[in-house]
Amino acid sequence: MSIIYNSELRVFKLDTPDSTYAIEVSPTGYLLHLYYGASVPDTDLRYLRRMIGVSSTSAQVQDAKENGMSLDTVHLEYPAEGAGDMRISALSIRGENGCNATAIKYKSHKIYNGKPAIKGLPAVYTNTDDEADTLEIVCEDTLTGAEVTLIYTAFTQLDAITRSVRVKNTSDRSFSIERVHSTALDLPDMNFEMMHLQGRWAKERTLVKRHLQYGLQGIHSKRGTSSHHNNPFLALGRDGYTEETGEVYGFSLVYSSNFKVEIEVDFLGTSRVLMGINPDTFGWLLEPGEEFASPEAVMVYSNHGVGGMSRTYHKLYRYNLCRGEWKTKKRPILINNWEATYFDFDDDKLVAIAKDASELGIEMLVMDDGWFGVRNNDKSSLGDWYVNESKLKGGLGKLVERVNALGMKFGIWFEPEMISPDSDLYRAHPDWCIKVEGREMSIGRTQYVLDMSRADVRDNIFDQMYKILSSANIEYVKWDFNRNLTEVGSALLPHERQKEFFHRYILGVYELLERLLAAFPKLLLEGCAGGGGRFDPGMLYYSPQIWTSDDTDAMERLEIQYGTSMVYPLSSMSAHVSACPNHQTKRVTSFKTRGDVAMGGAFGYELDITTLNDDERALVREQVAAYHKYYNVIQNGDYYRLINPTEDKANFTCASAWESVSQDKNEVLLTYVVMRTQPTLQRYIRLAGLDPEKVYTDTATGIKYSGALLMNAGLNISGNYTDGTSLVWHFVADNR
Ligand code: GLA
Repeated sequence: MSIIYNSELRVFKLDTPDSTYAIEVSPTGYLLHLYYGASVPDTDLRYLRRMIGVSSTSAQVQDAKENGMSLDTVHLEYPAEGAGDMRISALSIRGENGCNATAIKYKSHKIYNGKPAIKGLPAVYTNTDDEADTLEIVCEDTLTGAEVTLIYTAFTQLDAITRSVRVKNTSDRSFSIERVHSTALDLPDMNFEMMHLQGRWAKERTLVKRHLQYGLQGIHSKRGTSSHHNNPFLALGRDGYTEETGEVYGFSLVYSSNFKVEIEVDFLGTSRVLMGINPDTFGWLLEPGEEFASPEAVMVYSNHGVGGMSRTYHKLYRYNLCRGEWKTKKRPILINNWEATYFDFDDDKLVAIAKDASELGIEMLVMDDGWFGVRNNDKSSLGDWYVNESKLKGGLGKLVERVNALGMKFGIWFEPEMISPDSDLYRAHPDWCIKVEGREMSIGRTQYVLDMSRADVRDNIFDQMYKILSSANIEYVKWDFNRNLTEVGSALLPHERQKEFFHRYILGVYELLERLLAAFPKLLLEGCAGGGGRFDPGMLYYSPQIWTSDDTDAMERLEIQYGTSMVYPLSSMSAHVSACPNHQTKRVTSFKTRGDVAMGGAFGYELDITTLNDDERALVREQVAAYHKYYNVIQNGDYYRLINPTEDKANFTCASAWESVSQDKNEVLLTYVVMRTQPTLQRYIRLAGLDPEKVYTDTATGIKYSGALLMNAGLNISGNYTDGTSLVWHFVADNR
């Protein structure tokens, strides 16, 4: 059992292979946080509790019953609002008396094998009970009758601990939850750099860093989506950490709506990290007997730097978060017609693309936006999910048959949560969209957002999608979402529950996704939100791949894919070879480089393949062959980031490099891309994650190197390369 409770010491200890997490129940029942870090064998960690009392911090209040302890200075496991701890809090409950002083104390606990699901929410799961153990600590607030259960799952093979919180109203009066974070962690000092993924449309998830400072810092979203701008992820690297060494703590939230990561460094230099639903746009009225479940936060501890953290997330999210038919199954190489045609296509054009694509080894055609209603631009028809037969003559079934006859699978685009003002659906149900009566509605991409908190709205959209998906052999859906939520209000919610809207919205979206997958269990879902505006673990639970960004420029993708790989496995990052000059940046990059960059994700194409010349067609064949040849090492291997494209700009050149190593360390694929050339380049790339004892052969040249040599001295790549050159090396170990 990786979790124990020592009843004499009143200490809980959670162990993963290389980390330990410890909690103490204080004599008066507060949960004190003792430790989170590298594995320690000891159980009596009580000496770590920080008991700086009133005398040493005179402005603080002292807990009335516990001599010498001030809640304002101890490390708390799940800090509550307004009862002596003046730092940022994880929990605030406003009772019927109008007050929100909240105090929770230990009541009971249980420890068991496996991991529970969270009703209505995506969450990490176990494939077998021996993968993880779970601790539930039940606390109570005797005044409000709130029973607060802190749920921890420790993984036996990965350094990951998941956390979530359940609040139950055991009283006979209602109360309001004002904030309920999914995780809280007090770290004993502030010697950390904070890393997060910053961005915007077409420039998602760039890794940025800053050192912790006294006071508040953090990131959030209040857009109704996890957002292009901030990903629900943050890491803290202890001073001195590097990509492959040192201590790093990762925090990732399995949630697709408004979130907040708050960090406060207090007057004693303690760093408190909170992560969960954004309290600024949240409130929840809990009636007697009702329960509220928070989303799940996934904490990862690494003492192998940022890379170690990422590899843990990759494994956990690939094998214990993604689900269903396509979780680890080899995905078809797809071609999407968006950048090839935009709205200007018909059945013959699509079949022509499918025909050329199938000849070159591509396996699926995805018909993007524009096939429904009277949608010939982005100004109409969202919500009218019926086929435009003047475009697809003979209907969808006929088109799919023609594509299937070419040996190609067929996929289709939907934007289920949206409604165009110019649509039959809006004309029939103007009250079905999100709005505040009397207030002007903001418009984004000429569309409004449907009220997904309503069951009748979801039923309608489900029925329409069901009809389309069961009308033909459709094996894939791209689920898009192209604007943020504003003027939020639901026609069906009473005024005291309007604060619940954002959370109810996303619960509705999850319910619809779940229903769709239950009806079509073999469907491959690809998430999308104006590119990667909802690239989060919540969506990964339903869609094992997500469109990474609307920016398909290979040079831009280097940074975007680098940042995305902080948390998300390569199998989840859809990456396509697109046309040049690139539609977003006008940059021209060689066809080879575009392929090599897209190979670092869920590989596909997005261009008019009928216009390619013979050389380019030959390259498509080569890329398709490379995808199959390197599939195992790329998709099932361990990922190492070798050169950071964002930081390398300050160096003597500008490049990006990454590497995949098979689990048995017998196969290695290294990619190096020159972003900005400088003459007389002298450079060695030191590989990582190899077996130092093994001898690796470069399969192109036959040259042999020991693993130790490649990791310690590196590969000599000195030479003159033009901008945008990509180089790929494939090594295999001798005597495998
Ligand atoms: C979004 C997506 C694109 C494409 C368009 C269609 O921008 O990210 O890939 O599907 O919508 O309108």
